Amino acid sequence: MKLSLYFITGVIGLAAALPAAAQFQRPEQAVKYRQSALSVMGTHTGRLGAMASGRTPFDAAQAQANADVIVAMSRLPWQGFVEGTAANTRAKPEIWTERAKFDAAAAKMQEEALKVQAAARTGDIAQIRAAMGNLGASCKACHDAYQVPQ
Ligand code: HEC
Repeated sequence: MKLSLYFITGVIGLAAALPAAAQFQRPEQAVKYRQSALSVMGTHTGRLGAMASGRTPFDAAQAQANADVIVAMSRLPWQGFVEGTAANTRAKPEIWTERAKFDAAAAKMQEEALKVQAAARTGDIAQIRAAMGNLGASCKACHDAYQVPQ
């Protein structure tokens, strides 16, 4: 029992130390991972956006919960952008020829997400609305450059 526990801990430690790309066995898994994280992030951005703009009633606790999910998700999609996985997705191939710019756009968005979280903690809808505006602009900037339009 003790031995197997050590073994499991060892395997988990190893997985955490591996480079991101090596964590996906197949390209489709990387694609599914990034699209899933982006989809969840989009859902919660939509919910908080609806509250910020008054389309749904403002609820401070829900606003915070949505912001927390946005921040958590904002860290995840990028490791799924493994080289050679543009086919049959909405990821433009330029992501991999301009990786530093793409990563900077991702970092900018994560920064704006943290500001949304801080605004949500104040419970002040005006602050949330302003921070959401900046977050939305950071999504759009990357989509305009690196997402195939629908
Ligand atoms: C650094 C670039 C970048 C940023 C920043 C970014 N996205 Fe995206 N997003 C993409 C790319 C590229 C795709 C297409 C991914 C694919 O099809 O594999 C995408 C796809 C999506 C999707 C579709 C996911 C699916 O179901 O396939 C949603 C929803 C989405 N983004 C929401 C957002 C929201 C909301 C934000 C801001 C809070 C955001 N994105 C910020 C690059 C970005």
